[in-house]
Amino acid sequence: PALLALAAVIGYLLGSIPFGLILTRAAGLGDVRNIGSGNIGATNVLRTGNKKLAAATLLLDALKGTAAVLIANALWGYEASLVAGFFAFLGHLFPVWLGFKGGKGVAVYIGVLLGVAPIMMLAFVVIWIATAFITKYSSLSALVAMLVIPVALWILGPEKTALLVTLLSVISWYMHRENIKRLLAGTESKIGKKG
Ligand code: G3P
Repeated sequence: PALLALAAVIGYLLGSIPFGLILTRAAGLGDVRNIGSGNIGATNVLRTGNKKLAAATLLLDALKGTAAVLIANALWGYEASLVAGFFAFLGHLFPVWLGFKGGKGVAVYIGVLLGVAPIMMLAFVVIWIATAFITKYSSLSALVAMLVIPVALWILGPEKTALLVTLLSVISWYMHRENIKRLLAGTESKIGKKG
């Protein structure tokens, strides 16, 4: 239990690094929370018009999840890696540094998947790209992928991984509640569009 607590702390600290905010500030673009949806994630960083910065945000936010999983796995094994991944996700959503107001977790979700179920990460990316290609909505693409992947994991196992990923999906769906309202109202902004 002490080791699991340590895995949770390391996961949380890694997850709570707000790369979107750090990178946009470093690039002199101001506070990303003042533009578009106000979110700190790659989708909103893209609304600054800087594609490279958005890609870097996606990559780094994902890799902090992967790092948490891999570090905990190397030190303490499989169950600790799931705990670290879960807390990295929570760290991104509720970073103490930003008054617990963080992102919606899609990039971290992808990074955690890379650590715990790499094939599922590939499947996520394929589903995301296909949905984005058709609909041009980042949020909807993530919502669809986050619906399919847990189902696939419950079928293919292992169960503990399926449980972790189900929790991530439920929480991230909840964090997307405003996006869902906008999607239903037809007012969600399309990928790369400002506002
Ligand atoms: O799924 C992507 C999600 O984070 C949407 O971001 O900025 O459109 O709320 P945003």
